[in-house]
Amino acid sequence: MQIEPLIQGVVARSAHPYGCRASIKEQIDYVKQAPQIKQGPKRVLIIGASSGFGLAARIALTFGGAEADTIGVSFERGPSDKGVGSAGWYNNIFKDEATHHGRTAINVVGDAFSNTVRTQVIEAIETYFEGEVDLVIYSLATGVRPNTDSEELWRSVIKPIGESVTGASIMLENDQWIESTLEPATEDEAEATIKVMGGADWESWIDTLINAESLAEGCKTIAFSYMGPEVTHPIYLDGTLGRAKVDLHQTSHALNLKLANFNGGAYATVCKALVTKASVFIPTLSPYLLALYRVMKEKGTHERCIEQMQRLFTTKLYGQSKVPVDGERLIRIDDLELAPEVQKQVSALLEQMNASNFKELGDYAGFKDDFMKLNGFNFSDVDYSQDISLKTLKTQTVIKPNCTQHSF
Ligand code: NAI
Repeated sequence: MQIEPLIQGVVARSAHPYGCRASIKEQIDYVKQAPQIKQGPKRVLIIGASSGFGLAARIALTFGGAEADTIGVSFERGPSDKGVGSAGWYNNIFKDEATHHGRTAINVVGDAFSNTVRTQVIEAIETYFEGEVDLVIYSLATGVRPNTDSEELWRSVIKPIGESVTGASIMLENDQWIESTLEPATEDEAEATIKVMGGADWESWIDTLINAESLAEGCKTIAFSYMGPEVTHPIYLDGTLGRAKVDLHQTSHALNLKLANFNGGAYATVCKALVTKASVFIPTLSPYLLALYRVMKEKGTHERCIEQMQRLFTTKLYGQSKVPVDGERLIRIDDLELAPEVQKQVSALLEQMNASNFKELGDYAGFKDDFMKLNGFNFSDVDYSQDISLKTLKTQTVIKPNCTQHSF
């Protein structure tokens, strides 16, 4: 069969295995020629390693100068009778590239909230990392977290708090600009979002690793956050996600105290807004992304996840005598996005942008291209007319949900 792009609303329902491989290779090529990471970590655990920032961090740390070995946790679907599987499943092919490069890369595919996955990770650290990690990257983006004390699931919501918000979203399925009004979250919804996307699970992972004596001297941990300019605050910083991120920032301070015992540190890292599987879900954020992409590309300051991560490790987290942080002890890698001249032009574009001109005024082509590429489409060197057998994909991959490695 030929694998075609299939989008439902803002969700990709298909992924191209060879396009995902091309995406990994493109990112590897970028970090190889970028300024190199100095004094980087050698043994890295990445929780949420199969797409977005987590995957980019994994590529940067392996190929961008640190020569790190990695254990990557992800929750992805392999090929089955129901479909070809998720892009993240095929992105885990990173393992093969790392192995060819002489590095160890272990994929743990399963629910990061479960004890099973934690046990598998500790075992992998024992087996492949001589029992210790130098860096833990927490990069989960998810809508649900099981409450281990009950049968209940906490579900996060992306809603404003206090007042409703009206704005546009762009349906990638049919390129339509849709105006909608989001009603404010209830207190229960806001609390559930903190449970899912706040710092509690990050802290619980670090506690698990401390108890298993898996943290090396000097071990650092980071998790990703977003703040954005004022125009995004009603839906982000002042909304349910923002509350969860404030909780994550507070958790970073608590973890920093715990990691001081290892002469290490914990940091929430504020990143740039980008098209990822998670971010296209955020209602009303898309027009901002379109304007931001246009302005930053024109200025030559646009970065994707991979450029963000390489810059984070070379200029902030490693090779400096002290990790540079702002007044709230956050690492800021969103500086280029928030540059006043960028934001002035973005605001001017947003004031004029509407359903009939968003493709011309904003960088819709770039936004959509990024989304397609996330799912392995739009790569010029991939032959999309080639026949791919689902049976072959299934037999070439290990599709047990909690396998420790797979390849195709
Ligand atoms: P993504 O959707 O591209 O990647 C999420 C990762 O989490 C994937 O590897 C997925 O397999 C894994 N995952 C999800 N649920 C899991 C589970 N239960 N068990 C194991 N693995 C699971 O997300 P993205 O955008 O890279 O987000 C990562 C972090 O970066 C989030 O905290 C997000 O808020 C933050 N961030 C994102 C920005 C953006 O514009 N995309 C901007 C700033 C911060």
